[in-house]
Amino acid sequence: MSTSPKSTPPANRMMYAVIGVLMAVLLIGAGSFMWLSGQEGGAGGIGGPFQLVNGDGKPVTDQDFRGKYMLVYFGYTYCPDVCPTTLNAVADAMDKLGSAAAKVRPVFITVDPKRDTPAVIKQYAAAFTPSLIGLTGTPEEIAKVAKEYRVYYAEHRTGPGPDDYTMDHSSILYLVGPDGRFIAPIAADKSGEEIATSLKKLIG
Ligand code: NI
Repeated sequence: MSTSPKSTPPANRMMYAVIGVLMAVLLIGAGSFMWLSGQEGGAGGIGGPFQLVNGDGKPVTDQDFRGKYMLVYFGYTYCPDVCPTTLNAVADAMDKLGSAAAKVRPVFITVDPKRDTPAVIKQYAAAFTPSLIGLTGTPEEIAKVAKEYRVYYAEHRTGPGPDDYTMDHSSILYLVGPDGRFIAPIAADKSGEEIATSLKKLIG
């Protein structure tokens, strides 16, 4: 055996690696959120046109949401923690909005189009709240919309197999107005109650 007795056991190294990735994601998230918060609402150049497909494989564009507020979140269905926690909070916020919920469409856009096929994202989104719309697309279409929203994402290999990877990604909720203009970011690490309070203030 070549392992020196002083070297860190593999299990610990793995744990440190995981902690490192989580810290990086948190820092990137906090940094992007502060940066986005400093943007003029509607004039910051955040967001823009997109062409994606929904859970039925049908084309969906940003134009289809005109007249409603979009609450946009980027993530992926295999996400072990941050995405399901955020989407649970979004579902909770939609409940707490009461009648105002009819004005808001929560939209979940995958950053992992390889695995998040229409069928996968449809089933995943439906598990949180019926109004949540899951969108996917080609890697190019996803790259385009992610760039427009200044979303960071990157594949993080965990092994040699084709599915042995996680996606690092920034975690921010984006509120887009009925006219398609970006209004404000909402921190994604808030409770449903807090997200609902922010939304009420922003949508009036
Ligand atoms: Ni995630």
